[in-house]
Amino acid sequence: MSDGDGNRDRDLSKGGSNQMWGGRFAEGPSAIMREINASIPFDKALWRQDIAASKAHVAMLGQQGIVSQEDVQAISAGLDRIAGEYEANGVPEDWDLEDIHMTTESRLAELIGPAAGRLHTARSRNDQVATDFRLWVRDTIDQVDAGLAELQKSLVTSAGQHVDSIMPGFTHLQTAQPVTLGHHLMAYYEMIRRDRSRFADARARLNECPLGSAALAGTGFPIDRDATARALGFERPTSNSLDAVSDRDFALDYLMAAAQCSLHLSRLAEEFIIWASQPFGFAALPDALSTGSSIMPQKKNPDAAELVRGHAGRIVGCATALMVTMKGLPLAYSKDMQDDKPPVFEAASLLGLSIAAMTGMVAETVFRTERMRQAAELGYATATDLADWLGRQGGIPFRQAHHNPRAAGKLGERKGNAAEALSLQELQQIDSRIGEMVYSALSVEASVAARCSHGGTAPAEVRKRVAEARRALDMDDAA
Ligand code: ARG
Repeated sequence: MSDGDGNRDRDLSKGGSNQMWGGRFAEGPSAIMREINASIPFDKALWRQDIAASKAHVAMLGQQGIVSQEDVQAISAGLDRIAGEYEANGVPEDWDLEDIHMTTESRLAELIGPAAGRLHTARSRNDQVATDFRLWVRDTIDQVDAGLAELQKSLVTSAGQHVDSIMPGFTHLQTAQPVTLGHHLMAYYEMIRRDRSRFADARARLNECPLGSAALAGTGFPIDRDATARALGFERPTSNSLDAVSDRDFALDYLMAAAQCSLHLSRLAEEFIIWASQPFGFAALPDALSTGSSIMPQKKNPDAAELVRGHAGRIVGCATALMVTMKGLPLAYSKDMQDDKPPVFEAASLLGLSIAAMTGMVAETVFRTERMRQAAELGYATATDLADWLGRQGGIPFRQAHHNPRAAGKLGERKGNAAEALSLQELQQIDSRIGEMVYSALSVEASVAARCSHGGTAPAEVRKRVAEARRALDMDDAA
């Protein structure tokens, strides 16, 4: 736009007279500034945290004798009234007031007059937003944790019903060895257990209070940072004011934990999608979490599961967005950091929905256990058991024993059937040492029952893991 002779400056000052500022920017650059600067459309979500932090701050200012008790009362009552208004009517969106902090402060001034101005003593929007946002992320982590506990309960309940239900276990999505459905579901219980621990780590690390760091350097007012930290449920005040106003690790910790969790939910969703497909036919998904096709009457589509799978991409995108926003920002606060909130809010809402969807999916899906069992018998899933048997009976090293079942696998393939279905004569062609007793080892039941090593798929073992999980989740309290 600059033509080198100062026209650029002239255009900027004339605003509306130039084509460039047409349409909604007809007023000129000030309209652009108002819009690009305004975070109120999204940061109004912080209103509860903003009011709580302001109340803690002003109470402390009163205790320290920095603001008179009379003003503290007026400010605090005014903030309560504003909270009531927001609750009833939502937060008004005036872009000129930029963000939730100025929106609330300006309303406070309307309500109580000039005393409102004392609220911002020894504080800046920089430590204010850092505090509010930490509180918000902390609340979200608590909600996610509660949601994940429910998902775990669904998994454990269903796993408990299916400790004996045999299904094919896959590697490379090729039938590998029989496992139990209970075991398979409990694998996701473990993933979610780790996710919860990641969120708990993030929560513990974020639980320091930035309030009182002021704009970047701290304040000369005799504030009591321990008091505000305590009042807001933080462990302690932060230790470096520059870091405190510019640290968004806490949001990234949350987003990275959310991204990891969304990957687990996506994998679980994918299992249900595969299991519900006609060629598999392992599961009938709940109608409430599926849709019909507008033109193919026979279809029931696993849309909710597909969206959980899709949401993982968006949640990972949110984590990436904030990482890139933070990269290379010098200390302390820069306005780039205002862009920290949309990805966190988006990820939180997508994750909450995904957790709820998978909780319902796990609880309401009907498993076709007969069909699963049949599938487990195909594809020579007990070939390893034959190798194990040969190894045990004949003292043949496993690698060598493994060679023969490969041949047996070929036979099984030809017959399209389980190892069990091969005649003794056929088995003896593979290895002359094979006797009648081999059949007791080759059934899918025997196969899973044999895998009783700690963490293995044997029903007895899975039953133990389910019992442990039920205790960890306090599921037996009511009983
Ligand atoms: N709305 C701003 C944000 O979310 C608040 C902090 C503004 N601070 C400043 N120095 N302009 O980041």
